Amino acid sequence: SPTRYLMAGYQNALFGMGNPLLDICAVVDKDFLDKYGLKPNDQILAEDKHKEMFEEMVKKFKVEYHAGGATQNSVKVAQWMIQKPHKVATFFGCIGKDRFGEILKEKAEESYVDAHYYEQSEEPTGTCAACITGDNRSLVANLAAANCYKKDKHLDLEENWKLVEKAKVYYIAGFFLTVSLESILKVAKHASDNNKIFSLNLSAPFICQAFKESLMKVMPYVDILFGNETEAATFAREQGFETKDIEEIAKKAQNLPKVNKKRQRIAVFTQGKEGTVMTKGDKVETFPVIQTDQSDIVDTNGAGDAFVGGFLSELVQDKSLEQCIRAGHYAANVIIRQAGCTFPEKPDFH
Ligand SMILES: Nc1ncnc2c1ncn2[C@@H]1O[C@H](COP(=O)(O)OP(=O)(O)OP(=O)(O)O)[C@@H](O)[C@H]1O
Ligand SMILES: *[C@@H]1O[C@H](CO)[C@@H](O)[C@H](O)[C@H]1NC(C)=O
Ligand SMILES: *[C@@H]1O[C@H](CO)[C@@H](O)[C@H](O)[C@H]1NC(C)=O
Ligand SMILES: *[C@@H]1O[C@H](CO)[C@@H](O)[C@H](O)[C@H]1NC(C)=O
Repeated sequence: SPTRYLMAGYQNALFGMGNPLLDICAVVDKDFLDKYGLKPNDQILAEDKHKEMFEEMVKKFKVEYHAGGATQNSVKVAQWMIQKPHKVATFFGCIGKDRFGEILKEKAEESYVDAHYYEQSEEPTGTCAACITGDNRSLVANLAAANCYKKDKHLDLEENWKLVEKAKVYYIAGFFLTVSLESILKVAKHASDNNKIFSLNLSAPFICQAFKESLMKVMPYVDILFGNETEAATFAREQGFETKDIEEIAKKAQNLPKVNKKRQRIAVFTQGKEGTVMTKGDKVETFPVIQTDQSDIVDTNGAGDAFVGGFLSELVQDKSLEQCIRAGHYAANVIIRQAGCTFPEKPDFH
């Protein structure tokens, strides 16, 4: 049918690049937390003392694996919202040639994301352990191979670059600025030169501070800037915006220099249970989120990533920005009601 034909043309329309991590979730015990010096509720980067932890977790407890990492999560949520065709979302990142890498490839496939990893043997596949005790969850991330992405070894290869060219919406989290600025710039320039949509997430206050210079090299190519309120505030301070008003910050971020003048930049800042701020032309609006009883909220982890995924799922289908925000709020709301790293089989978004 004609619809089928159109839908097939829409494969690989959304391109994401970032740090792929294998999420390893398990209910653990207090002894395990104590052995590795973990707080019940925390989010840290792995240190030397955590090296053995991931393997031990797999041996000792019943673990669940998921394809993770901020950007991969967002494109996964976008693919979940879209359902069919499969492989609307492409994902690039670096992994190791090891068992965790094999599992990650399987998991990406199960989520119907078209993942193409640069596989190298110097560093093991990146992991993120979620150690659950009761309602608490302690996250320990080990970037490892994710840090080793190389433009000339992967992005530049003809078959890979073809997938970049196939896309019409691009999404990269600010975290990746610490890995390969030149890869981000190559994709960003391609989007700008071809009047396609390039979106970036501020990702964390340290990106706005310690990686300010890299961030501002990419900013002229950014069509959509995502962030939460904390990141927006840090960004504003670092840029000398002299305002703490989030709507004002959004306006000022929108008006930073831009290369592709055919598209006005859009700034989108989430604020947890408060409304999401978005610039719309020369105006700024705040869009309310889906009101949720605090008792229905199981775990807000990954809500931000899910919001972005929902937003992108509609953007790639040329829907209005209001619709994109609605889808973002929907996806985030599903995620905060779910325990652990899972979501239901199908979305119920209209
Ligand atoms: N308490 C809440 N009530 C209702 N919706 C919420 C709540 N917390 C988060 N959300 C939903 O999730 C979206 C993103 O939340 P938030 O701004 O907290 O992202 P974040 O700080 O990046 O989260 P995280 O870092 O935990 O992924 C919100 O726009 C909203 O739709
Ligand atoms: C969860 O963590 C809090 C402190 O962060 C603690 O008071 C509580 O007992 C923990 N619950 C479980 C089940 O470990
Ligand atoms: C926004 O995200 C940062 C991580 O970048 C997190 O530390 C912070 O708590 C979040 N802010 C809010 C208000 O949820
Ligand atoms: C990305 O943007 C969203 C929404 O604007 C924000 O909530 C989230 O914290 C950001 N984080 C990451 C890791 O990309």
